[in-house]
Amino acid sequence: MQQFGIIGLSVMGKNLALNVRNSGFSVSGYSIDKPEVDAFAKYEDDKLKPTYSWEEFVNSLEKPRKILIQIAAGRPVDETLHTLLPLLDQGDILIDGGNSNFNDTNRRFNEMKKHGIHFIGMGVSGGEEGALNGPALMPGGDEEAYKQVAPILEAIAAKNTEGRPCVSFIGPEGSGHYVKMVHNGIEYGIMQEFSEVYDILRKIAGKTNDEMSQIFADWNQGVVEAYLSEITAEVLKQKDDLTPDYVIDHILNVASYKGTGNWMLEDAIRLGTPISVIAEAVLARFMSKASTRSGKEITWNGEVPADLVDNLGKALQLGQAVAYAQGFQQLKMAADAYNWDLRYPAIAQVWEAGCIIRSSMLKDIENAYDNGKKLDNLFQDSYFNDLMTQNIGALRQVVELATKAGIPTPTLSAALNYLESIFNPSLPANLIQGQRDYFGAHTYNRNDRPGVFHTQWYEEK
Ligand code: 6PG
Repeated sequence: MQQFGIIGLSVMGKNLALNVRNSGFSVSGYSIDKPEVDAFAKYEDDKLKPTYSWEEFVNSLEKPRKILIQIAAGRPVDETLHTLLPLLDQGDILIDGGNSNFNDTNRRFNEMKKHGIHFIGMGVSGGEEGALNGPALMPGGDEEAYKQVAPILEAIAAKNTEGRPCVSFIGPEGSGHYVKMVHNGIEYGIMQEFSEVYDILRKIAGKTNDEMSQIFADWNQGVVEAYLSEITAEVLKQKDDLTPDYVIDHILNVASYKGTGNWMLEDAIRLGTPISVIAEAVLARFMSKASTRSGKEITWNGEVPADLVDNLGKALQLGQAVAYAQGFQQLKMAADAYNWDLRYPAIAQVWEAGCIIRSSMLKDIENAYDNGKKLDNLFQDSYFNDLMTQNIGALRQVVELATKAGIPTPTLSAALNYLESIFNPSLPANLIQGQRDYFGAHTYNRNDRPGVFHTQWYEEK
């Protein structure tokens, strides 16, 4: 009998199965796509078993069964649950490791519960490589069921610098997929910030691809020690197979997306979360499709400040902090709205290795939330407050220069505006309230006495 089962054997499912086997557990694999099972069968040994039917798969597993469903999100997951249900026993544990929408996970969690089946919605980050060598895992659902799969998940997960596994029980219902959605929103935000910095480096600082690659590689040893710095350095220096050029110069500048960033925005609108950097990053992908590209190329003939590259590094470091801060702000607002007891230091720790947004800054975030303080905003923590004080001048310089040059910086500008707003005691929303009260008698609160007020702004005729 096998200790773990995986449904879906495309590259993610196959690599996760190999990871389970390499971690010392026995695993069965099944896919409705027979060629996938055949490819998987090449790895067969005493701990890894390919299966060719639903029944063979289910019957190969020890009870309570522990089954990871690693297939495309959406309808295929519902169809799989429908097919599996009659074959399962009460107490079996199903884990959905796809990028499912948390609303679907909430629904499936409650449906499966009615049948006595434990359902865990688990965010998995790290792509193919992470799946094989250690992903970041974000499981949510039923904590007792989680405890039964924890030894396997902890064994396969990435480990942070202290050797702790990057998996932690997140919370009830769809909260694991919610946290993965927020991870992806942050991913969109930071990636867009990188691309804006790249644009300024090439168009204002006049850097070559090799020089930019070296700059990102240097930042990866310093101000922005992050997986995204590492891969940006790699992407920029890669030569093309089809031309003598760099591949980056032949990649069409239209960004695709599968929607998890968009979902975060949908829920931010519902909750009223000011996740401006993430919103601008989602919109920038839309703009990359919508732009007519009919204008003139930007050329910068002005002065290039001697400290521009250093300031770009600092701006990126602070911009990255704002993207994380907005993600955690949304988590806090979601936890309040949905009654989830989310453990922020554990979430930061889960993201410290294995996932796309991993960076050394996540340790600082873990520490900020570990201080036991209830932070409404990450920048209330002294480390991040100091970072803001030290780097905001650089961010202002970068945004100002890009504005003068006509280079769009939607996320860097949004990060700056966010920081200029969060501690600002005199945001001008009083005028909005006055206008609302003027044209619609919507009333307003006052800053000098309690209560709800309306002014008679004009004489009624
Ligand atoms: C991960 C990634 C992965 C994928 C996202 C974003 O954590 O491994 O987030 O899940 O990159 O789905 O994809 P899009 O950019 O296509 O939306």
